[in-house]
Amino acid sequence: MDKIIAVKDKKFALSISAEEIKKNVKRLADQINSDFEGKEVLFVGVLNGSFMFASDLIKLITVPCKVCFMKVSSYEGTESSGKVRQLIGLTEDVRNRNVVVIEDIVDTGLTMTDVLHQLQAMEPASLRLASLIFKPESFRGNYNVDYVGFRIPNDFIVGYGLDYDGYGRNLPEIYTIFDC
Ligand code: IMP
Repeated sequence: MDKIIAVKDKKFALSISAEEIKKNVKRLADQINSDFEGKEVLFVGVLNGSFMFASDLIKLITVPCKVCFMKVSSYEGTESSGKVRQLIGLTEDVRNRNVVVIEDIVDTGLTMTDVLHQLQAMEPASLRLASLIFKPESFRGNYNVDYVGFRIPNDFIVGYGLDYDGYGRNLPEIYTIFDC
């Protein structure tokens, strides 16, 4: 039987091992190294969730690169505009750079819709997205997730940087919520 753990008040079952993660992160790094051969890349990690994925991925990058991180703050607009997502702490100038955004998970895709839109307005030479996890069943975006580690069903997961109410980011493997 799969390993079951408790995170806060919920139970989760092991779904992606550390070895599988390592293998797929290597596959993505190989793809990025090949796609950007002879070019320079600016990696922009989205905090908090991407810290572990970004760290492992970037260690395998062989093309010249710079690395920075930013946060996406989300708040309800005062008018009917709904949610407004702001990029916080982006210190690098992305203009004319080959930018690869590193995200932990693309679920509905709405967060990345806003992020990519704002980055595109800064006129990078190219803009791509790497996400460790992609949930195609809930995706509502109209952009490509260029580098996908794992496609998973629409279930809630924790581990390897992903949290449940702030907990579980430290787990070296990925666990899926367990209903019993
Ligand atoms: P979006 O729906 O693609 O905009 O995702 C918004 C955010 O929800 C992600 O950046 C994650 O922080 C969080 N999220 C979505 N699905 C999961 C999950 O299964 N586990 C943990 N966080 C999640």
